[in-house]
Amino acid sequence: MRMLVALCLLLWTLPAVAQTPASGGGEFVRGAAVLRITALTPEILRVQIAPQGRFPEDASWAIPASVRSRRATVTPRTDGFETAALVVHVDPATLRLTVTDRAGKTIAADAADPLRLEGDAFTLRKALPLGEHYFALGDKTGPFDRRGASYVNWNTDAFGYEGTTDPIYKSIPFALSVGGAGGAYGLFLDNTRRSWFDFGHREEGVLAIGAPAGPIDYYLIAGPTPAEVVRRYTDLTGKAPLPPRWALGYQQSRYSYMSDAEVRDIAGKARESGIPLDVIWLDIDFQDRNRPFTTNAAAYPDLKRLAADLRSTGIRLVAITDLHIAAAPDQGYAPYDSGKAGGHFLTNPDGSLYVAPVWPGPAVFPDFTRAATRAWWGGLYKGLADGIAGFWNDMNEPAIFETPSKTMPLDIVHRIDSDDFAPRSASHAEIHNVYGMENARATHDGLLKLQPDARPFVMTRAAYAGAQRYAVTWTGDNSSSPEHLRLSVQQLLNLGLSGMAWSGADVGGFVGGASPELLTRWVAIGAFTPIFRVHVTKDGPRTEPWADSPEHLAIRRKFIEARYRLLPYLYAVAEETARAGDPVMRPVWYDYPSQLAPACDQSMSFTLGRDLLVAAPPRYETGRAYDVCLPSAGWYDYWSGLPVAEKHKEMPALDRLPVYVRPGTILPRQPLARSTAEVPQGPLELHVYPGPDCHGALYWDDGASLHGATLRQEITCTVTPQGLTLDFGKRAGAYRPWWKEIAVTIHGWDGDGRVKGIRTTRDVSARTLSFTLKDQPGAKRIEIVR
Ligand code: GLC
Repeated sequence: MRMLVALCLLLWTLPAVAQTPASGGGEFVRGAAVLRITALTPEILRVQIAPQGRFPEDASWAIPASVRSRRATVTPRTDGFETAALVVHVDPATLRLTVTDRAGKTIAADAADPLRLEGDAFTLRKALPLGEHYFALGDKTGPFDRRGASYVNWNTDAFGYEGTTDPIYKSIPFALSVGGAGGAYGLFLDNTRRSWFDFGHREEGVLAIGAPAGPIDYYLIAGPTPAEVVRRYTDLTGKAPLPPRWALGYQQSRYSYMSDAEVRDIAGKARESGIPLDVIWLDIDFQDRNRPFTTNAAAYPDLKRLAADLRSTGIRLVAITDLHIAAAPDQGYAPYDSGKAGGHFLTNPDGSLYVAPVWPGPAVFPDFTRAATRAWWGGLYKGLADGIAGFWNDMNEPAIFETPSKTMPLDIVHRIDSDDFAPRSASHAEIHNVYGMENARATHDGLLKLQPDARPFVMTRAAYAGAQRYAVTWTGDNSSSPEHLRLSVQQLLNLGLSGMAWSGADVGGFVGGASPELLTRWVAIGAFTPIFRVHVTKDGPRTEPWADSPEHLAIRRKFIEARYRLLPYLYAVAEETARAGDPVMRPVWYDYPSQLAPACDQSMSFTLGRDLLVAAPPRYETGRAYDVCLPSAGWYDYWSGLPVAEKHKEMPALDRLPVYVRPGTILPRQPLARSTAEVPQGPLELHVYPGPDCHGALYWDDGASLHGATLRQEITCTVTPQGLTLDFGKRAGAYRPWWKEIAVTIHGWDGDGRVKGIRTTRDVSARTLSFTLKDQPGAKRIEIVR
């Protein structure tokens, strides 16, 4: 309906276009309106439109000024300009924008009637060609591919959301198009308002995006590969930094572990039942009357001591610190008193404090758009951060109870004083979607200030584009059902494509309570997702791995252990992610483009890094065999190490999750440890799966510090007529690792194998050849001769 009204309000009807040279791009004028296109790099264009000729202030919560000010060299053309990678055409009659590659293939093109205005609201209309598929947009529900659907960006506390609920917690107005003529591209609308993306839902063949107000300011990011687009999107909005290594371990949570004794019991049971464990989470009941930055002294008489005792067994605590500060004047509650004195809380339009109910009852809300308020908030972690290893920023959409909108009124006043924004007041309508991210930023920066050399660990529920710089995330209050297990896979994949490389879903489901079978299946898959945390609602069943039968415990343990054995691989992937911006968990087509149109159902398939492919059953409940189709011939079964057929069938057995290794992988693993803090006993393992482009990477450091010594090493392998050559590159960095020896296992090996001066062992049925080397810090070639 709104679109129809908008039709009548076309603005761009005046004739005449003038192109003025602008540094790094061009400006195109039509009547009062100005279209400004700036090439930040040869592949990244920023498009801004000023319908009345006046551009709003150039400031952004997502993209730092230093990035926005980059300029690529451009060459003017009669109808636009070109960069080293792109040709930009602007149709003089309509101002329609078409971006092609240098060979003339269309990457992204405006639809007819590219801009519609209605008051402050705008709609941008682009072509949605057949064959293009759309991804990203954060953790939105629905199918993996966004094509054919419509989404709203409005951070919402969506307790018990369903498979089609929209919006939910995050607003990441970034879409990734894959499969188009000119290759993959990204579209990032840097507008914090309640924006929307419509992928041909309302109008066939039209990709429409819009917002009710705010800047018309978007980025077109060319590939041509999806990986190049995601890396460039994270060049703009930031890379997810390397987390502390313990964050890669198994994490046990519940709403809530109610006492010191219960937490110790959980830690003890994990050890007794042989479950490796790195983190126990403290949910709101560890606090006094749900007041952030307090402790319930009766239940947790000595939190520091608890943290220290657990730490000595390799387990860390992460604690919740929600942003709603109890409105508790004159009660000696320091966060309220100091926040009030510093003028850090949000106000109503009349200047009075905004007070609304959340977990602590009446609460007040910090204005995270102020650098000074963020600094004050960060300071609240003093003391707490001494023992607690990481923090959980929940409810930061922000969630408000007892109101239909579930959040604060849109006219609540923020007083922006941050970054390159002009100090000014702003309505909550403008700030809502960045509020949670700035909360996480305040926590992150505060922890960094308190412990300048420690990697902060923060988990946030709400996010805007760029939140990956400050926090990891999870998909909020999902449910215990096979549908939600399936949904979580697409959510985590789309989060990764949206820059948020570190994400998890509540394993087992938050609402409802998992059956033993569902929990076991979810643990198996969760073990291969970036953040691996079991969490469940209050009054839900026990969901610790040992809660059900010994049979279930054994299967869960097997998958948790698998995760710990893979730590050297996972950590190398994590480090690469921090540099490149690639997701940790990826759609199969991310690295294997042919799999955009797979030969079988890959809805529950994904890769972890490039080299491991998980092919979970699309519908385990049916109990029926399903097809697995791998990207090429020659892949190996991860569990047996044996080569497998490119296409084959699997049964949805409870104790087997099909995982495969790319031919050409050198996979580092380690002996089993009970936490990431435990030094593995024995050699580092290198599993070699011969194939094309054979390589692997080692990355190690102390696991916690930001500026400490590191170790990096590349290893390659080549199949030769005589056998196989393994090349260790020279190790970079001064970090001295825990391993003294390297145990090499070559898979798919038949016949004898000799290595000069080293004893080798053959296993005929496993088709392996194994031998142990001294650690190889220098460049070294090992020849394996058949
Ligand atoms: C919210 C969170 C959930 C948490 C609960 C209590 O519902 O999403 O994870 O357990 O609040 O803090």
